[in-house]
Amino acid sequence: MSFKVPRGTQDILPGEVEKWQKVEGVMRHLTNVYRYPEIRTPMFESTELFQRGVGDSTDIVQKEMYTFEDRGGRSMTLRPEGTASISRAYVEHKMFGNPDQPVKVSYLGPMFRYERSQKGRYRQFVQFGVEAIGSKDPAIDAEVIELAMRVYQESGLKHLKLVINSLGDQEVRQAHRQALIDHFAPHIGEFCSDCQKRLEQNPLRILDCKVDAENPLTASAPKLTDYLNEESATYFEQVKMYLDALGIDYVVDPNLVRGLDYYNHTTFEIMSTAEGFGAITTLCGGGRYNGLVEEIGGPESPGIGFAMSIERLLLALEAEEVTLDTEDALDLYIVTMDDAAKLKAVEFASSFRARGISADIDYAGRKMKAQMKAANRLEAKYVMVLGSSELEEQAVNIKNMETGDQEKVPFHDVVNYLLTHKQ
Ligand code: HAM
Repeated sequence: MSFKVPRGTQDILPGEVEKWQKVEGVMRHLTNVYRYPEIRTPMFESTELFQRGVGDSTDIVQKEMYTFEDRGGRSMTLRPEGTASISRAYVEHKMFGNPDQPVKVSYLGPMFRYERSQKGRYRQFVQFGVEAIGSKDPAIDAEVIELAMRVYQESGLKHLKLVINSLGDQEVRQAHRQALIDHFAPHIGEFCSDCQKRLEQNPLRILDCKVDAENPLTASAPKLTDYLNEESATYFEQVKMYLDALGIDYVVDPNLVRGLDYYNHTTFEIMSTAEGFGAITTLCGGGRYNGLVEEIGGPESPGIGFAMSIERLLLALEAEEVTLDTEDALDLYIVTMDDAAKLKAVEFASSFRARGISADIDYAGRKMKAQMKAANRLEAKYVMVLGSSELEEQAVNIKNMETGDQEKVPFHDVVNYLLTHKQ
């Protein structure tokens, strides 16, 4: 019997994981300077939270959730995204009472969606995201968008496109919804069965349908931007004004429809325009969700945020041929000639590591030559060979593997020598 990772999941092996850590470092740095401290919520929540939060008519809730009954007969779901959970935590911990609003948080962790897996689309993927809940200042929309762009820019990406749109408020969405129904209803028979269901549930999602994307009725559908009331239009203008002030380029796309139900006002996506990136070009998605906290039982608390997967960020870096400087070099490899030397090497390695010097030794009983080869494979910066004469002399040659230079160093000086030379 042979086992494989479940479809749509992957093992991140050493050699690859350093890239993850590198971009996670960029994210942690930026959330620190923008002041979005981390929040950690459970990997599963009650199913109802996502039904209400993400929305019953969405693909996520209808087709993609990993839902199970726990031993107490409760319906639980592996989280498909973070915004609903964070809004729940905001209400549960009464963060709306915090004198400093908005409450700004970030998160980084696995999400689960039963999707058709393909390059860039997985069933378990890691999302980095931020949420700012408790303010409807358009300046925070611009801050959140800027933070998302910075993650990509500071990771080394250049070929990016920011697309924004406004979905307006409840009143606007209602009027637009009716206009869409009137537009599509006479011809709905030409559309796929999913769209036929969407007509009544959420006609906006017809615009997002992959099957019917080429239908001319999609292109000629009433545009939400034409229905914006004065308040929504002004809000959108202000968001754009802040983006302009920050020097952030964007394209307004009135057909930008996000796949989750909680959005209103500002929505945005960041795409990769790198050649050969593949079919799925969206790296990041986000927007404003002014009614969500109320929907799950809290007081009126407007919010905005985004999420991006690390998987797609790394694919974009690959497409742009950006190499990340991952700095995982080994400082020292200790080659041992016999059991007595091995005992000393174990002691040495422990004392080096205690001082922050990375060190490795042979645990496979290999001959000296094979150990030297291992040191080369591991790209050790320094190598020392310990044998009976070194133990007798209480001194050892330390070889710089890059220059080939060697220096004899007394045992009691080895730590200091390595600390001053390893850089
Ligand atoms: P979303 O558009 O569903 O939004 O996902 C956001 C991002 O997560 C996508 O742009 C993509 O980078 C990544 N992603 C989604 N599904 C997959 C997948 N199957 N495989 C790999 N990456 C994936 C949300 O999740 C919202 N919660 C974003 C948000 C936060 N809105 C406001 N606050």
